[in-house]
Amino acid sequence: MEICVIGAGYVGLASAAVLADFGHIVNCVDTNEEKIKQLKQGKVPIFEPGLSELISKNKSNLTFSSSISKHIKAASVIFIAVGTPSLPNGRTDLSYVFSVADEIAGAIDSYKTIITKSTVPPGTNEKIYQKLIDQGVIPELFHVVSNPEFLREGTAISDMVQPDKIVVGKMEGDHQSLPILKNIYRKINAPYIVTNLTGAEMIKYTSNAFLATKISFINEIARICEKYGVNIEDVKRGIGTDPRISPHYLSSGIGYGGSCFPKDVRSLEYSALDKDVTPLILQAVQEVNKTQVDLYIEKLSGLFYDLHERNITVLGISFKPNTDDTRYSPAVSLIARLSTLGCTVNAYDPQASLPFEVKDNVIQHADVDAAVFNADCVVIATDWDQFKELDWRNLKTLMKGDSILDARNCIDPQHIRQYGLRYIGVARP
Ligand code: NAI
Repeated sequence: MEICVIGAGYVGLASAAVLADFGHIVNCVDTNEEKIKQLKQGKVPIFEPGLSELISKNKSNLTFSSSISKHIKAASVIFIAVGTPSLPNGRTDLSYVFSVADEIAGAIDSYKTIITKSTVPPGTNEKIYQKLIDQGVIPELFHVVSNPEFLREGTAISDMVQPDKIVVGKMEGDHQSLPILKNIYRKINAPYIVTNLTGAEMIKYTSNAFLATKISFINEIARICEKYGVNIEDVKRGIGTDPRISPHYLSSGIGYGGSCFPKDVRSLEYSALDKDVTPLILQAVQEVNKTQVDLYIEKLSGLFYDLHERNITVLGISFKPNTDDTRYSPAVSLIARLSTLGCTVNAYDPQASLPFEVKDNVIQHADVDAAVFNADCVVIATDWDQFKELDWRNLKTLMKGDSILDARNCIDPQHIRQYGLRYIGVARP
């Protein structure tokens, strides 16, 4: 089967590599010519464990190109995996998705199954269908399918190969697409959840909103625990054993980030308000998340009389471990706030680079020792495994101060206290 994956980002590249590994002929296309140039040279422009190896293993049936319409014509199946960022008012910017729809409408000359992997607000897939019809494409030439993606950056490959479910939203009367999709995914052993186009769109948003809610919920509980001298880790263990709750997504810390949760919760709020539903829980979830960084700034301000001109080391830039993605990273928000407050920030991350806009008073170092040198305080902002295993005895000798602010509650307080360091977490008395 010849497949065209449109969009060579985190989702598009992982999808293309896995589909090629399943034995399909895959052409992954993108408008970003620089990205395509790198991919053609065998360089993968993002960090995702196992991705580079999977791409090079399948180079005989996986190609990269910026000739989009040529590969749309050649394929019988098209995956849309372009970005759906937030507009300033919270509405999803669908311009990339719709420009792909236009591209398909202009190129289509044989039957295509058009599968949307991008996360799109309720009603979008129906609009994609209508766009093609409005441009004169006959309905017999295509079907639109909503097949939202649930992979997590950092474990994208295994999440794609072993998903917990495959969600398929199809149009009424479409009896062709499901067998086609099952053939594409024939190597995957997972239950199919089949619904209509808008149902599948809602499943994706509900899933992300629920996970974001768990994170904001535990962060709120941690704020209360802290005031009562209760260890949040005990509370997490105590509730996490209940199968109705589960221990996942119950780690308190600096808040959720990344390219999905923040924009998707906002987008769902927008979709609700658009239909005169006030989404009180979604609004509270965002409010808690927005103010999490304040909590850590307050903790730092409590440590020093004046934060101005303090040397603060921030370990972690990406929004979570095992990715180089810094979109909506709470670590980046923290760094930006510290820089605005006049601190000198020395940052380190195993994979991520500081976004261009936060360069004032901020230096990114190539190793932990250089970042920690002369620090008044070290902040753990992303819970990379590397930071859980640091040589604190050595780091203490490099630091000027002795405070470690664990903004992810991810290191063992007893372990670092034995070296004369002061541990500050949230609700970890
Ligand atoms: P990304 O920003 O990494 O990649 C999107 C790619 O699409 C870019 O390379 C861009 O140049 C390309 N593009 C934009 N317009 C194009 C066009 N007209 N033709 C061809 N290429 C075009 O985005 P990412 O993170 O891969 O996300 C893609 C979609 O998947 C979004 O809707 C996102 O919400 C969703 N998603 C993302 C997940 C993640 O962990 N990143 C997980 C699940 C879903």
